[in-house]
Amino acid sequence: MKLLGLNFGRVKGTSRQYLDIAVEEAKKTDPSIEVEVIDCIKLKINRCIGCGYCSRQLMGGQDQISCVQADDDYIPLMHKVLEADAIIVASPVYVLAPSGQIKNFVDRFGPAHDKAFMLFENELRKETGGVPLDPNCLKKHLVSFISVGGARTDHWVSFGLSQLDLFAMSINMKVVDKANIHGLFEAREQEEKDPDTGAVKTVRKYFPDEERIAKATEEAKHMGRRLVENYGKKNSEIAWESAPGICPVCHNNEMTFSGTDTLCCPVCGIYGTLKMDGHRTTVEFTEEEMQRSRMRFVGVLEHQIEHGRQVRYPHFEENIEKFRAMEDDM
Ligand SMILES: Cc1cc2nc3c(=O)[nH]c(=O)nc-3n(C[C@H](O)[C@H](O)[C@H](O)COP(=O)(O)O)c2cc1C
Repeated sequence: MKLLGLNFGRVKGTSRQYLDIAVEEAKKTDPSIEVEVIDCIKLKINRCIGCGYCSRQLMGGQDQISCVQADDDYIPLMHKVLEADAIIVASPVYVLAPSGQIKNFVDRFGPAHDKAFMLFENELRKETGGVPLDPNCLKKHLVSFISVGGARTDHWVSFGLSQLDLFAMSINMKVVDKANIHGLFEAREQEEKDPDTGAVKTVRKYFPDEERIAKATEEAKHMGRRLVENYGKKNSEIAWESAPGICPVCHNNEMTFSGTDTLCCPVCGIYGTLKMDGHRTTVEFTEEEMQRSRMRFVGVLEHQIEHGRQVRYPHFEENIEKFRAMEDDM
């Protein structure tokens, strides 16, 4: 198993600290795993310029998926991600959401790496004598996320974890765990005597919150262990052990209201019904709706229908049935 750690925070920052704890625990759980940790802050990842070159390569049938911008560090990083069997992404919260560098990567790793799109194109390549796609594009990837914020309150890390899910989305990685680490230091006022004048003044100092630090350490260790333990398992055998969240699929807490009791999970794109029991609220999703989530393989298959790609693929229905049957292993 190849485990890749991606740190989007500072080289000696808190994201890297907890990423290292998770990776070390994974290595302790199975010393035979291959591990690499990358400080992405040292890399240059330009933004996507929307040229469509990657999709044209995919649909051309003769090339592997790449990027027209070959003069920065995106392509080597893309290969590292594809080659990995499991990935831990650790990012600081910047202005309520993960660092912008992740979005630059995600956009360039976007539509052309859509798992369903790649599977259909690969079938077409087989039928028309094209070049088979890199098997790393079609294999299963496990991923876990660490979001690190400075704030003590949840409402200052609002999109930290939910937007990290975007990293998993296009190639349909299986999300195993998420850790929402924040506010590890608490500001307290303290009286201090000036050693020269003897005057007493009130100063504000930051003290480590030992309880939160212990919890964060345990969560990171748990994440590292679980990635190793779940490697090779079927999706249905991988239990969710992180915070449950309101959405039963992505386990995030954001919901889009549109004026009725029908709410939409903005990450999964699925609709549920708001239920209230006194002050307790839940959102009920039908099994059918949960299957539609774009975080699930069956959900991304459906997206191909929405794109009208039946016209492009001669054996669309046959292939979609074949792919649906692969859900537990994707
Ligand atoms: C530009 C910027 C914006 C930030 N915005 C937030 C924020 O909205 N919420 C929060 O909790 N912390 C915020 N922080 C604090 C960082 O999340 C925190 O310092 C984190 O530990 C940095 O990660 P690192 O140590 O891995 O580099 C911000 C920091 C920077 C530099």
